[in-house]
Amino acid sequence: MGGGGPISPIGAAGRASQYKGGMTTSVMFIAVVAASGGLLFGYDLGVTGGVEASDSFLSKFFPGTYEAKQAAADDYNPYCMFDDQLLALFTSSLFIAGMVMAPVASVVTRKWGRKVTMLMGGLWFLLGSTLNAAAQNLAMLILGRICLGFGIGCANQSVPLYLSEMAPSKYRGGLNMMFQLATTIGILVAQLINYAVQDWDEGWRLSLGLGAVPACILTLGSIILPDSPNSLIERGKNEQGRKVLARIRGTQQVDAEYEDICEAAASATKVTHAQAWRNLFRRHYRPSLVLATWIPTFQQWTGMNAIMFYVPILFSSLGTGQKGALLNAVIIAGVNLISTFVAILLVDKAGRRKLFLSGGLQMFTAQIAVGILLGVSFSTYNTSNLPESITYVALVLICIFVAGFAYSWGPLTWLVPSEIQTLETRSAGFSLSVSMNFLFSFVLGQCFLTMLCSMEYGVFLFFAAMVAIMTAFVFVLVPETKGVPMEEIYTVYCEHKVWGKVIGPEAVEATMALAATNSGSMALAAAEMALAKPSPKFSHSTTKSTPRGSEDAAPDAAAADALPVSKE
Ligand code: BGC
Repeated sequence: MGGGGPISPIGAAGRASQYKGGMTTSVMFIAVVAASGGLLFGYDLGVTGGVEASDSFLSKFFPGTYEAKQAAADDYNPYCMFDDQLLALFTSSLFIAGMVMAPVASVVTRKWGRKVTMLMGGLWFLLGSTLNAAAQNLAMLILGRICLGFGIGCANQSVPLYLSEMAPSKYRGGLNMMFQLATTIGILVAQLINYAVQDWDEGWRLSLGLGAVPACILTLGSIILPDSPNSLIERGKNEQGRKVLARIRGTQQVDAEYEDICEAAASATKVTHAQAWRNLFRRHYRPSLVLATWIPTFQQWTGMNAIMFYVPILFSSLGTGQKGALLNAVIIAGVNLISTFVAILLVDKAGRRKLFLSGGLQMFTAQIAVGILLGVSFSTYNTSNLPESITYVALVLICIFVAGFAYSWGPLTWLVPSEIQTLETRSAGFSLSVSMNFLFSFVLGQCFLTMLCSMEYGVFLFFAAMVAIMTAFVFVLVPETKGVPMEEIYTVYCEHKVWGKVIGPEAVEATMALAATNSGSMALAAAEMALAKPSPKFSHSTTKSTPRGSEDAAPDAAAADALPVSKE
């Protein structure tokens, strides 16, 4: 998901202009397989809310909640109708499993290749969808979600990396953002299927089972497709890597790209994942640590997933009935998809900060308005006599909120963490960002229904306050990364009024002095030297564990070649 972020040419010499071959049918086929990875993520995110609104599903697995919903009489608290920890676990267990699997998948991706991790992902997805579709009891249901979570952990680590390595360099950024687009398509497809099967007896089995279709594509694709040239070469299979490169580029003239990949692979072995982690906790990499932690954490506290996971049941609580609730979920998922295109169009023109700030303002306003609307409405009406016009206004406001998210924090949460990492912290920083995202998706999925019950309409005001905090965070601490090559991000931190102080004057002075004559990466080397901490890690960090925000492994390594690593 990179929306055309700064993609460095592969190779220290910037030989990307000499690369031959463009978009081939193999790459397009690969893109379809990769898209199925994003689709699965979105599908599994979006499918549960609609399923939970289904009476046959609720009565079978959550009879207590079903009875509460049926008994929703005049005096019943609409905010608490669905407050059930096990119901929440059905949604959120996916993320805790994803969080556990992501670091494992990262090691597998590095040691055995992208293909193996994608295959593992496809198989976990297949197992999870089958268990869910055939579920006879709650245990089967939760176990199925855990398997799907393992699938997500594998897919989010390997698919975008594989995609960016297989794509011709000039299409890398665009393909990166396609993953987020595929995610939003997955959410929409899930809502459409939920809507279509709502009148079928046990239609929820089909909803949950249909995830097996993209899972089959991912599984078969990862059996048929070759591993990426980068992965093959890094594992010493140079000849095979070269053959694959020639095949996917549709030409034998791949010398320049092949040599760059070889150089990158050689550099990639210089920094271990553990070293990147150690670097991340050193003072002068503090901006990378703080931003990698807080951007994905804040994304979840926008409250977006409260809507993505629970919109059908939110509208059920507003008394729309199952049909209306599911239709609203479709509309909202459609808005989410369309607004993602806005991000793709604007991200490299307006820049990241403007999108973050305006999206934040839009979300803040909409959340406040929803809070007030519900607060005022439920002080006068209850679920059974709430005027229809109020649910329409709520729908419009939620759409405004979702649109704001989808052109800002949605895609940027995956793009910006891929741009704010220095070469020395990159692989660890990415892993951290993915884990934080999964962790707080879990926390939010698990807590939202209880928060809704106890805070009532105030929950929307709470999210509005969080959005205000994160918008201020962006305003003060997130630098503009549009067009900043990744080897120059450190100079950006040095010039930043807050981060410059955090990093410390010695590092900043030395960096800026060298930046005047050299590239940013040289400047970073100077910073290291000024601090008199010659570091054997002072080379790039590998991107083996790069999540879907990845650009690719090679540019890292390539840019790192510009570093005076040999100083150690
Ligand atoms: C987020 C998901 C969210 C989705 C909505 C993604 O960027 O990580 O948690 O559900 O956007 O489109």
